[in-house]
Amino acid sequence: MQLENISSMSNIPKLQIALDYISLPPALVMAGLVAPEVDIIEIGTPLCKAAGLDAIRGIREICPDKLILADFKTPDVGGIEAAMAFDAGADMLTVIGGAATATIEQAYHVARERGKEMLMELTGVRDIIARATEWRKIGIDRLVYHREWDAQTAGRLWTQEDKDIIRQLIDMGYKVTVTGGLTMELIPFFADLPVSILICGRSIREQPDPRMAAREIRLAIARLWADSASGSPASRTVTPSTDLAAKAIRWGISEMGLSLTVDGRECPGCNSPKRFCRGTRTDILIPTGVDRQEFSRQLLASIETGETNAAGTDSSGSFYLDVGTLTRINESKVQSLLSAVGSAFQKTGNPVNTKAGLEAVHNIFTE
Ligand code: 5RP
Repeated sequence: MQLENISSMSNIPKLQIALDYISLPPALVMAGLVAPEVDIIEIGTPLCKAAGLDAIRGIREICPDKLILADFKTPDVGGIEAAMAFDAGADMLTVIGGAATATIEQAYHVARERGKEMLMELTGVRDIIARATEWRKIGIDRLVYHREWDAQTAGRLWTQEDKDIIRQLIDMGYKVTVTGGLTMELIPFFADLPVSILICGRSIREQPDPRMAAREIRLAIARLWADSASGSPASRTVTPSTDLAAKAIRWGISEMGLSLTVDGRECPGCNSPKRFCRGTRTDILIPTGVDRQEFSRQLLASIETGETNAAGTDSSGSFYLDVGTLTRINESKVQSLLSAVGSAFQKTGNPVNTKAGLEAVHNIFTE
């Protein structure tokens, strides 16, 4: 697979998960878990050192159709390291910004020869624009702009100055990847920049449900960059309203007599930081006795045209509502989602208390 094939589909940045593990087994588990929700899987630098080419081969075996980036941050012997990574199954490779021009040229040459990608890693580069100007002359067109892990630990924050440099790099013709402690809260900061890829590592891996975290980040990216392209002010205001709408959904669903989540645990409530439903998506158990296929059909038929991404069924016997995919978020949209749920249950002969659900939604929006 080639990055261009997915890049050309839209101006929405791709989501890359960084697997910064120090041994292979947990990386394989995480790759299998999050692969459906990300565009690119990165073999993180520590993992490259711990498990090397076995890591690339192992992830390739588990994820045959995913783009794989080997974050070698190659400092020397560029041609050989690039060939090793690509032969093992990687699609993309990083070379460290401090490398000699000859190293960069050799790695780039191997990448070009094989239809693969080579990205310059800006970690530690002080004169970014000057170096980027040189690299452009030899054809390099991808960069990784990095708030370094250790610098972050030492307190380095993302600033407007970072964004100004990223903007200049994009204006020079670079496709820019942004990384370094990105979280759901930080990503909107970059939404006015046409960046190519966003990398999230810890903000996905360290969540209780990494797959859900990846899904929510990817949805947020899609929404933020779509709003940004359309010039909509929603790119800055979407988070509070989606939070409120998601909370209204959870209360409404409970009042309808349905159960959130599918594993029988007791949810500590919508206002608890330990609540089961996080972000914009709510998973709801389909009660036993309901014809799941028919329910699914009726649910999708009842959802407003253009909003069908906001609901769906999972094979595990649950369905979900996701307010993050709504084109506009307000009380009436949320009520219409709950009405569709009520209608689908009604039509499958399992009525629920839709009126109580709609009242709960109204109360949340007006509280
Ligand atoms: C460290 C890296 C990391 O992969 C990158 O910083 C992303 O990880 P996180 O999102 O956890 O900061 O390249 O050198």
